[in-house]
Amino acid sequence: MLFRILLSALLTCVYVQFSYADHREINLKTWEFSRDNVHWYTVKIPHDWAIRGPFDKKWDLQNVAITQNGETEKTEKSGRSGALPWIGEGIYRYHLRQTDLKSRHATLCFDGAMSEPTVYVNGQKAGYWAYGYNAFRLNITLFLHEGDNLIEVHLKNMEESSRWYPGGGLYRPVTLVITDKARIDTWGTYIRTVSADSLKAVVSIDMKTLEFLQGSRFVVDITNKYGYHVQKSCPVDLKGEGRIIFHVTRPKLWSPETPYLYKVRVKLIADKEGKPNVVYDEQLLNYGVRIIDITKEHGFRLNGVSRKIKGVCLHHDLGPLGAAVNKAALIRQIRILKDMGCDAIRTAHNMPSSLQMEICDSMGMMVMAESFDMWVYPKCKNGYARFFKEWSDRDIMNLILNHRNHPCIIMWSIGNEIPEQWSKEGVDISKHLQDLCHSLDPSRMVTQGMDRPDEALASGFAQIMDVPGFNYRVHKYDDNIRKLPQGFLLGTETASTVSSRNVYKFPVKVTDNAVYSDGQCSSYDTEYCSWSNLPDDDFSMQDHPWIIGQFVWTGFDYLGEPTPYDEYWPSRSSYFGICDLAGIPKDRYYLYRSVWNTNSHTIHLLPHWTWTDRIGKITPVFCYTDYPTAELFVNGKSQGRISKSRDGRLTKYRLCWNNVVYEPGELKVVVYDIHNNKAGEKRIYTAGIPHALKIDVDRDVIQADGNDLAFITVSMIDKSGNEVPTSQDELNVKVSGQGSFKCICNGDATNLQSFVEPKMKLFNGKLVIAVQSSMKKGKIKVNITDAANKKITKSVSIKTE
Ligand code: GAL
Repeated sequence: MLFRILLSALLTCVYVQFSYADHREINLKTWEFSRDNVHWYTVKIPHDWAIRGPFDKKWDLQNVAITQNGETEKTEKSGRSGALPWIGEGIYRYHLRQTDLKSRHATLCFDGAMSEPTVYVNGQKAGYWAYGYNAFRLNITLFLHEGDNLIEVHLKNMEESSRWYPGGGLYRPVTLVITDKARIDTWGTYIRTVSADSLKAVVSIDMKTLEFLQGSRFVVDITNKYGYHVQKSCPVDLKGEGRIIFHVTRPKLWSPETPYLYKVRVKLIADKEGKPNVVYDEQLLNYGVRIIDITKEHGFRLNGVSRKIKGVCLHHDLGPLGAAVNKAALIRQIRILKDMGCDAIRTAHNMPSSLQMEICDSMGMMVMAESFDMWVYPKCKNGYARFFKEWSDRDIMNLILNHRNHPCIIMWSIGNEIPEQWSKEGVDISKHLQDLCHSLDPSRMVTQGMDRPDEALASGFAQIMDVPGFNYRVHKYDDNIRKLPQGFLLGTETASTVSSRNVYKFPVKVTDNAVYSDGQCSSYDTEYCSWSNLPDDDFSMQDHPWIIGQFVWTGFDYLGEPTPYDEYWPSRSSYFGICDLAGIPKDRYYLYRSVWNTNSHTIHLLPHWTWTDRIGKITPVFCYTDYPTAELFVNGKSQGRISKSRDGRLTKYRLCWNNVVYEPGELKVVVYDIHNNKAGEKRIYTAGIPHALKIDVDRDVIQADGNDLAFITVSMIDKSGNEVPTSQDELNVKVSGQGSFKCICNGDATNLQSFVEPKMKLFNGKLVIAVQSSMKKGKIKVNITDAANKKITKSVSIKTE
């Protein structure tokens, strides 16, 4: 092995000694912030000005008919965009001390700013971007001077501009990049795998400079942590461009299961003032060698292997952290999803953050990167339709140039449920945007989520897409595929089943329009919307070879869109999530896990078994498991041994005992494999009164960087250690040592308690607290106490290093 590495190094490389010019990337972290230009606060970005609340139905109160949901009459919608104060203006100021600007170039890079950012440098307008979700770069060189400089960002959020919670502010990083005037155009670098198998990969790298330098060249190093190193160079041509083709032997291919990354270092080199081999600029990227194709014959293939996409849609908010992007929170989300067997995320319905894409690269999560929720016809009064004509090409361009080197991204999406599906104009726009994507990135296919299959197929809208994507309406898939020349289709959005963690409604009904007086949905996973369906319906359809996969709506609950309680106050966040807003798995998580996670077994029982008002009443019991057969026992009495069956809507993927009569005590399930051998069991018990707190910390050690988070899941338990699923006790939180309280959330879509006050009621026995490290190494001590019974208290210590 070592011999091969050395030999390949000798054959392909001439290593050169370089001297370095200055390239600096400054993360502009600490800003002054004001909502009124009078009162100013110091804030650290990423920052979301609205997440502190308070919740109030008056924020973005809308009197509308949601036409996508089939509504024709206007009604009051209170929590549609989260009932948080994100509307209005905000100003951020950064004081920058800059010296030695001679022959330097300054680029200000925004990864997104919510929204309509206008940027001023020393009082002069340096730029503007319309869309809050997109990355953009400004050349601010001419606006800077030696000494003190002031960067100001003005943001404006209009009412009725979003169908969900967008957040407000500089919610993603802002970076100042100082380079020589002769520099690499970082978005001009385009790495793609031309071909790959286990023996050899061909990787092509295109590069661009800005400001041409006579005699300059690009030098590219590719390395991996297993000792691979290869270097090649090429001259910069008269257009300022260059291309290098690498032949990588025995490549370590990227996939969700093997997220191998290579480091690609691009250097721009020339002689300077008599000094040879000066590095004028340098760019470092992670790259995953992998190849994708989608065909009628093989469906979706990654590295030549067919697989179904097991995806979820995600909005960008991180529950109680709001829109402010956070590495630890994103990593936690992906860990939870991967354990469910999920291998893909659709960034609904907008451009993702760079941080999220980096994490998906390194943890192994495929991505459909989306762009728009509307084009010319508005879905809400002040939405992106205001900008589409003028901005959409620029927005697609920035999406792709910013993200096309991420191996995790497997396709681009140009829209979600665009109203123009039936029209010639819609077909033209689709074609135009898809061609634009191809011109910027010929290596990926393009899709969009269509919710009106009949119209989209009649107009030709669906037929022109690389990947026809359909939202819901699974009963039409069979008909759709007959009209599609592509020979395959994708479930761009599926299920939209609704549930609230640990809430069970009786009698159990499969229904598309259930609402209850408590503003909750049943966790039996039998309730959905008029346009949607059950997870089971999607699973069944996925058996067809021409379906390349699905993206479930949604992986986690999100702020806003509290369907089916759009008109019910105080509902202010979604019920669609497989996990709740705090990131706690609902029952549905285990249903998906039982089908998707093929590496470890699932045995999950529902409902909980702690009822005071159900003694003697029919209380159906479901088991979500990958095993085909199981026997259920209530206090040792068999309720029957049953197997999954091919027929029946609820019996193909779940084991349901519909006539169990509740009695307190023990509920036990014994599962059997296909050979009828006992394979495992699971027991749950009726809980006693609240006695203690159980704590699960997602990480015992976090980084002392002032940013890292530990997530603490708190559960109420009884004397015997059983979780008490009915406890709604309020908990108080105290944090001391090298960290601070960050936020708290219980996953209840109707809870109006603040996410940023260190106290909250449990929702059905559980909540989640996040604590943040300081910059000092040491310990964070967290103490949690029941407000009504101080004897119920628990402390935990988290190390920071
Ligand atoms: C879809 C839409 C999503 C969300 C979902 C709720 O039609 O694309 O944004 O609204 O419905 O079911």
